[in-house]
Amino acid sequence: MEVVILPTGQQVAELAAAAVVGLVQRKADAVLGLATGSSPLGVYRELASLHDAGRVSFGHARGFLLDEYVGLPDGHPQQYRSVIRRELESGVDFGPAAVVGPDGLADDLPTACADFERAIAAAGGVDLQLLGIGSDGHIAFNEPGSSLVSRTRVKTLTAQTRADNARFFDSPAEVPRHVLTQGLGTIGQARHLVLLATGPGKAAAVREMVEGPVSAACPASVLQLHAHVSVLVDEAAARQLSLADYYREAYAGKPAWQGL
Ligand code: F6R
Repeated sequence: MEVVILPTGQQVAELAAAAVVGLVQRKADAVLGLATGSSPLGVYRELASLHDAGRVSFGHARGFLLDEYVGLPDGHPQQYRSVIRRELESGVDFGPAAVVGPDGLADDLPTACADFERAIAAAGGVDLQLLGIGSDGHIAFNEPGSSLVSRTRVKTLTAQTRADNARFFDSPAEVPRHVLTQGLGTIGQARHLVLLATGPGKAAAVREMVEGPVSAACPASVLQLHAHVSVLVDEAAARQLSLADYYREAYAGKPAWQGL
């Protein structure tokens, strides 16, 4: 696990976007794993501006969402499929059916989850997965207690996550209780995991993820078992890391050719 501490959230977004662009330049038909929430928004803005500048095309790339609310109707501004259309696809050039998410409106949710797993596998797996982290240590919507080998399935959000996400809705009561989410085992099969965390509200979760024990109590800690993880944080999110000076020194001395 590489921890990169940068002064600002904008620099975090630029570094993550550079990793995505580098991948798509090397592999035009790359498969991207797409997070929602606030954390990746700067990355998506950067990707749109690099696309506008002619530096990258997503015309052959594919995308898979991490998660989806159950029951939010098509066109609802917080349905994650709509969020990704608005925040990412509208600014770049993915093909018409290139981005898919788990179907939170399916009559048979377990079958929709299994179909989604099959679609990821049929695409050859995810090359680069963008991740945020919840203040309770969740990644995607794998809340504390999630199996470390779980697959895409229905989960119930914690009260803390519903409160955290209430800012996106008109009232806290409107935040759905149930979601479909890639499992920790699903996420762990992506070849490169890039987790973004900014702001003081993420500092405790980042510490538990990076320096705490591997435990379902902090689902993000399972990333310690993955061979290629980049944790990109700003100073505020890094402030509880006891090895912060070491992470800074290691990154400062890293040869440029190595990339993330
Ligand atoms: C969303 C997702 C979640 C968020 C997390 C942090 O697709 O997977 O795990 O990344 O809840 O949310 P923000 O970025 O809004 O703080």
